[in-house]
Amino acid sequence: MDYPQDNSALQRQFAEQFDLKRLPSDFFVNPYPYYEALIKYAPIKKLPDGGYFLTRYKDLDFVYRHPEVFSSDKRVLFKPNMGDSLLYEHHTHSLVFNDPPLHTRVRKLIGAALSPKAIQLLEPGLKVLVNQLLDSMSLKYKEVGYVDLISDFASAIPVEIIGNLLGVPQQDRGPLREWSLSILGALEPVLTEESFNRGNQSVAEFVAYLKILVADRRANPGDPGKDVLTRLIQGEENGERLSELELLHNCIFLLNAGHETTTNLIGNGIVLLIDQGQEIQKLFENPDTTKSVVEEILRFESSNQLGNRITTREVMIDDVLVPAHTQITLCMGAANRDPDKFDRHNEFDALRSNNRHLAFAGGIHTCAGMGLARLEGEIALGAFFNRFPKVKLLEQPKLTGRVRFRGYSSIKAVLVS
Ligand code: HEM
Repeated sequence: MDYPQDNSALQRQFAEQFDLKRLPSDFFVNPYPYYEALIKYAPIKKLPDGGYFLTRYKDLDFVYRHPEVFSSDKRVLFKPNMGDSLLYEHHTHSLVFNDPPLHTRVRKLIGAALSPKAIQLLEPGLKVLVNQLLDSMSLKYKEVGYVDLISDFASAIPVEIIGNLLGVPQQDRGPLREWSLSILGALEPVLTEESFNRGNQSVAEFVAYLKILVADRRANPGDPGKDVLTRLIQGEENGERLSELELLHNCIFLLNAGHETTTNLIGNGIVLLIDQGQEIQKLFENPDTTKSVVEEILRFESSNQLGNRITTREVMIDDVLVPAHTQITLCMGAANRDPDKFDRHNEFDALRSNNRHLAFAGGIHTCAGMGLARLEGEIALGAFFNRFPKVKLLEQPKLTGRVRFRGYSSIKAVLVS
């Protein structure tokens, strides 16, 4: 979108006409000028379908702090499009799309499974994996003259790491990526028949596979201190247990939640840092700068741009009275560039301090895997730029074209050493 940032008439017109279900094609390429117009002229935007689209940091923060008013329960929202399908069963059993008490129960078990200690155990395997991928890319580059930093690198990492987390045998991991992409693809603002069918089929195949894996793990439990699936099966000692459906669907959710989002963190980070054209290696010289680079990537090109809530009662959001049972879309991609919260909001500053972005949301649903996501980002990006500091893009990277999840489907590059 190349209208000038200071063209207020055009920005105002866009904010007035904004409809999440009828987006202009350049929104998919660069939504940020649109977000900026909304923050300026319609921060609590009423959509043609009666829902509201929120873009300001302070309004998202308010919503996250009041989960009793802004429910995450998606049974009503998903019913018209998903009916009684398996896709509906899956999404309505995921902890992210539920309120307390179901959410609290599942979160407690999953939160413990993703504890700092459990994540620490994954670190050595993660480093080995990243180095293997870098070696393979080096070889491939010598053979074919380019690599694809999504398929050869960024997307290979989360699948393996979550596969390790749940103890999915190596030879079974092939279909995980496609299942995950199809199931999450069905959460786009407009659900086509094709993406519904693909998503549904993927849930069916995923559940069938997990039933076998879970039965095997029940018969041969691992060490619950190390094996997350055994831990989720056994629940807490003398405490909470997951039902079979909760277990299966939350395992799928874990695999999905950590997959496309983390791929996008790594892919978006590589493109942003190449675009910077500065001495990238220096940024990864110590753990503090590495951490701030990853936080700024998360802020500037948030992997997960949209979230949803529904109001349980009439509520004031700033000066707007929003009725009960209203769909609310939270735009983290916009809030993370809110000029009232971030200085030089449209500038990528790899060493930005006090970067309290909302890429992992906030409140009771704050991403349970953020420690793991950060670790993957830090290790993958650090090792990549140390090995290939002069990497160059071969062509314009291809975006996935999704609105909810922002990232690339392909980044062809030349590994100049
Ligand atoms: C860069 C990578 C990631 C990003 C940007 C991200 C983002 C998010 C966001 C925004 C939410 C909240 C959704 C909402 O409330 O509407 C969330 C929830 C969640 N994420 Fe992540 N995520 C990432 C990686 C991961 C990883 C690696 C895992 C685990 C393996 C994970 C597991 C979860 C879980 C379990 C929830 C549900 C939390 C709850 O409802 O209590 N995420 N994530």
